[in-house]
Amino acid sequence: MNVQTAALILSAVLHTVWGQNPVLSVRPRTAAVKLGETVSFHCRVTSGSQPVQLEWKRSNNQPLGDNVKLGPDGAVLTIANVRLSNQGGYRCIATNAQGKGTITATLTIRQPPKVRVTPSGPLSVRAGESVSLECSVTGKPRPSISWIKQGSETALVSTTTDATASLQVRVMSAEDAGTFVCRAQSREGTAEGRVELRLEGGFPQASVTETDLTAVEGQSVTMHCHATGSPTPDISWSKLRAPLPWQHRASGGILILNNVGRQDSGQYICNATNALGFSEAYVQLEVDSPPYATTLTDETVARPGEALRLQCLAHGTHPIRFRWTRVGGASMSPGGGDHQRRRAEDRAAESNGQRHVQVCGDQSRGL
Ligand SMILES: *[C@@H]1O[C@H](CO)[C@@H](O)[C@H](O)[C@H]1NC(C)=O
Repeated sequence: MNVQTAALILSAVLHTVWGQNPVLSVRPRTAAVKLGETVSFHCRVTSGSQPVQLEWKRSNNQPLGDNVKLGPDGAVLTIANVRLSNQGGYRCIATNAQGKGTITATLTIRQPPKVRVTPSGPLSVRAGESVSLECSVTGKPRPSISWIKQGSETALVSTTTDATASLQVRVMSAEDAGTFVCRAQSREGTAEGRVELRLEGGFPQASVTETDLTAVEGQSVTMHCHATGSPTPDISWSKLRAPLPWQHRASGGILILNNVGRQDSGQYICNATNALGFSEAYVQLEVDSPPYATTLTDETVARPGEALRLQCLAHGTHPIRFRWTRVGGASMSPGGGDHQRRRAEDRAAESNGQRHVQVCGDQSRGL
């Protein structure tokens, strides 16, 4: 081997060692951090002729950002308080006399799922009404979304796009109401949002203003029934074990019976019905006959000192209270008369022997 050859080989070796584009490595190649964390990429020249100049650029050619700092000799790129806009590729570029070398590190941002449910509850829903519940989700990687009803693990059928899941709920009865949970899951974690659906008003509740009514034959009777519930209940009236009296008028919560007779006594039912069920309230009606009284004799003759016996008979609904009075308002002689009995006596105490006319009055409850 002559000197020339040796020189050529040396030159080739020297060229291999010294006259080379920079070759780079970066650590880590990829990083996944949470928002607010700090991350550094280390760029190292593994071979290539010195001197080498290092610089960093973003893959998307955007500026590095004000929270990005370069370390000694530009070898270390540090991102403090990472935010979403920092996500992406970072190119470490090395330049020497022979040319350039680049290597790219990638930053991805890990975001635990977050859930937002609209409308926020609690929601009052009328029976039969349908509501739409929206769940929007953020997070990286993109979480899966599902709706469940609290107390069950079965996923409900919802319409999902990338970041939202909307659920239609139709509340027909109390069991359909409850708390609905939107669950977002990724390997970064699980998040839940919930909304409570309450059945508004709901089950019908009937009540009557008076549960016991008394009337006298021939009178009119009005019954009042009030019903709460949602949807607004319909009210119907009926009579226990009998049809409603012929002369009745029913209008919503009001039932009017005209010209009642004794046969109209009994139990009346107010029935409030809506989609959720029915509720009954009862009115007890008692129809009394008006009492009328007769004395057996129109005229009685009595001598002074004799006992005078007058009898009063009355018809009507019991109990009947009897009262004797004297025509003209004169007082009854003391001790005379047992007002509570059907037979009443008075003593013909007057000495002038004149006839006294007495009226047998009557009273019955309801008059
Ligand atoms: C009240 O209404 C409900 C539903 O329509 C019915 O099932 C029930 O028998 C009714 N009650 C009376 C006493 O009519």
